[in-house]
Amino acid sequence: MSREAAELGGRGAGSPGRRGPGGRGSERRESGAPGAGRPASREAEAQGHRGPGTPGAREPGHRGARGPGDNRGMATDLHELLRSLRVWDPEVTRLPPFDPEAAPATPLELFTEWFAAVVAAGQSEPHTMSLATSDEAGLPDVRIVMLHGADEAGWSFASHAGSRKGRHLSARPYAALCFYWPVLGRQVRVRGTVTAAPSADAQGDLHARSTGALAAALTGRQSEVLGSVAELAQASQAAWERAAREPETSVPSWTLYRLRAEEVEFFQGDEARRHVRLRYRRAEDGWTRELLWP
Ligand SMILES: Cc1cc2nc3c(=O)[nH]c(=O)nc-3n(C[C@H](O)[C@H](O)[C@H](O)COP(=O)(O)O)c2cc1C
Repeated sequence: MSREAAELGGRGAGSPGRRGPGGRGSERRESGAPGAGRPASREAEAQGHRGPGTPGAREPGHRGARGPGDNRGMATDLHELLRSLRVWDPEVTRLPPFDPEAAPATPLELFTEWFAAVVAAGQSEPHTMSLATSDEAGLPDVRIVMLHGADEAGWSFASHAGSRKGRHLSARPYAALCFYWPVLGRQVRVRGTVTAAPSADAQGDLHARSTGALAAALTGRQSEVLGSVAELAQASQAAWERAAREPETSVPSWTLYRLRAEEVEFFQGDEARRHVRLRYRRAEDGWTRELLWP
């Protein structure tokens, strides 16, 4: 995927492929009747459904994934639909072996290895992740953001300081990230403390991205209540024009956050459900590694 496509709002409004208004080149079904209000079974919601001896076997009643529009003209039975789905469909997922004994000494090395592997395996949008924060009262919230980098300084992402997440992070500078890469049945969780990088780093990071990213940042007011769609269209149009005219303009509220990991957990799904969970915890002189029951 191109960098442009990866940027949220990186395309011109309503015209995929253009850079902006100015056109600047810049699971198995479980037994049991579909019951009203009956939740999808634990099995169906969380695990693969192939027995150890039946890799890839589809079980009776599995209908495969549905495309958008398959429910045209009929009300969706959510629970029925949930029971028809599975995780780690062999058509999509390969579950590679993972030997935790051979894992590198630091989580950054393993993250980099796994990231390269999922990119090579064709994972779409592997650089998007859930970011969990909590408000002053401790109430959690979560949303998707893009990973901008991972190095000795931490895992980085960018957003507006005045957004909900920005306010959370200034009140409680702790966060958790979660990556899910279904092509290899892998999950990575990162927890730690968050700091804001120097403003010059944030502006440099923004200017290295697309016109759309700059326009979105310039539009600003993230997480405020919006009066109407028209109001956004007007503000966005002005932001696109400014971004095209002044590509080096700075956006003071745009903040590059760095999460310094205290814990990083790597989860490798296993067909026989002997999933491997390897947790790194920061210690005085490096990292400790331990296995967790799945
Ligand atoms: C694929 C994807 C990528 C996103 N990337 C970012 C991002 O990098 N930064 C950002 O501020 N919001 C990003 N968003 C929007 C956030 O999910 C969220 O709507 C927004 O940041 C407001 O969140 P808040 O109200 O909790 O602050 C992304 C959304 C999606 C679906």
